[in-house]
Amino acid sequence: MTPLIKEILRLPPDSREVTIRGWVRTKRELKNITFLEVNDGSCMAGIQCAFALSPDGGCGENQKTLAAISTGASVEVLGKLVPSPASGQPVEVAASSAALVGEAPGTADDAAGGPSYPLQKKRHSMEFLREIPHLRPRTNTFGAVARVRSRVAFAVHEFFQERGYQYIHTPIITASDAEGAGSMFQVTTLDLAALARSGGEVDYSKDFFGKKTGLTVSGQLEAETYAAALSRVYTFGPTFRAENSNTTRHLAEFWMIEPETAFTRLEGNMDLAEDFLKFIFDKALNECGAELEFFDAHIQKGIIETLRQVVESRFSRISYTDAIKELEKAGTAGASFEFKPYWGCDLQSEHEKYLTGTAAKGPVIVADYPAEIKAFYMKQNDDGKTVRAMDVLVPRLGEIIGGSEREENLGRLESRMRELGMNCADYGWYLDLRRFGTVPHSGFGLGFERLIQYITGMANIRDVIPFPRAAGQAGF
Ligand code: 4AD
Ligand code: MG
Repeated sequence: MTPLIKEILRLPPDSREVTIRGWVRTKRELKNITFLEVNDGSCMAGIQCAFALSPDGGCGENQKTLAAISTGASVEVLGKLVPSPASGQPVEVAASSAALVGEAPGTADDAAGGPSYPLQKKRHSMEFLREIPHLRPRTNTFGAVARVRSRVAFAVHEFFQERGYQYIHTPIITASDAEGAGSMFQVTTLDLAALARSGGEVDYSKDFFGKKTGLTVSGQLEAETYAAALSRVYTFGPTFRAENSNTTRHLAEFWMIEPETAFTRLEGNMDLAEDFLKFIFDKALNECGAELEFFDAHIQKGIIETLRQVVESRFSRISYTDAIKELEKAGTAGASFEFKPYWGCDLQSEHEKYLTGTAAKGPVIVADYPAEIKAFYMKQNDDGKTVRAMDVLVPRLGEIIGGSEREENLGRLESRMRELGMNCADYGWYLDLRRFGTVPHSGFGLGFERLIQYITGMANIRDVIPFPRAAGQAGF
């Protein structure tokens, strides 16, 4: 394999022969010299390839090839690595030959009246780019997002592996609704058209798995089984939610990281969440410097400073009850909320923004929520009203992490499930964890796309996942 542009840019300009392979970002033609800027996606920067043309217009083959090359073309350039006279780039290629690897866009097709390359050198709107998910990774923005995603995914594994956590693969097809929120996509091989015609009841015993199944909304319950055996585990996989929420922070298919820790209560879980986010931001700052500079300059001013501050800060911690008091006080003092805060309400994104932006000016961990607005498995507090839940909220985005200490007491868990009308028999395996060798344990879920949104400053979650799936949107 020839070296990547990222590697070539680090070499000294010692006139060594190099081969550059990539896609042309720009072509600039001066009188006696033509410049191609070639990018291979290995790093933010491209490499400049300079073709000196002879004054009499000679240079034969090269000139013919160069004439056929335009933005978006795939090329192979041979030349010598020399110091660059241009500022901002230490080296460039004094090119001796260029070859078109594939057919040039905008030339052959255009002559025949066909389409021209959609990504000409200009700013494109995110909406436009969302319509061409197969070409948008060739832009600076989406290339940078992809590299940050890749490096941060690696950092997730580094963090947990260094701390004795085992990576567990939980199922994608499942028979249990982990969050009890009823937002599961159904998985079936039943003939829906025939069922509709028959008008009868659906018999799930005839379905592929012999019962009703769906795509997982969370790997937590299965992760708990392994935490009750291996002590520290985490999952990192795709998660699906059929919520019809058309917002800038919801996807129907997203990736979630879920650690589960035995012998750990809520406070330890909060510490883990805080350490984890700081570790990830620190890695992004150190390993994705060029990308973050790009996002800071073009997407969200001040993003680097914000991440640095979070790494150095101590996250505020507040109970749900105190958070509501604070919001009510703010309401009386003139803050205008569309949804009036009251004890028992789910925090709305405007409330989260107030708590993190105006009040704490940084991340906030809210704990001990009313049981009614949280899932069945959370540990009940002695007050009979609240559960040991925690959400980590960050400025700009709101909830980035949701987690809890789990109810480890069999009797209390069963009675909560009955209260909610759940069938305990369906969860026999989950209750067994409380029957045999039960231990206090806690965990949380971090939405990977929300994390990438926070790091890059990208406004819409659909632009931090390669192929976004949301209500009404599943482009190829
Ligand atoms: O708060 P949630 O629903 O918690 C759980 O699923 C727990 N089982 C986690 C656990 O304790 N192991 O989701 C966790 C996180 C949210 O804080 C958010 O970051 C992300 O998952 N998330 C979404 N991200 C994108 N699109 C959606 N529709 C999301 N729903 C949740
Ligand atoms: Mg949540």
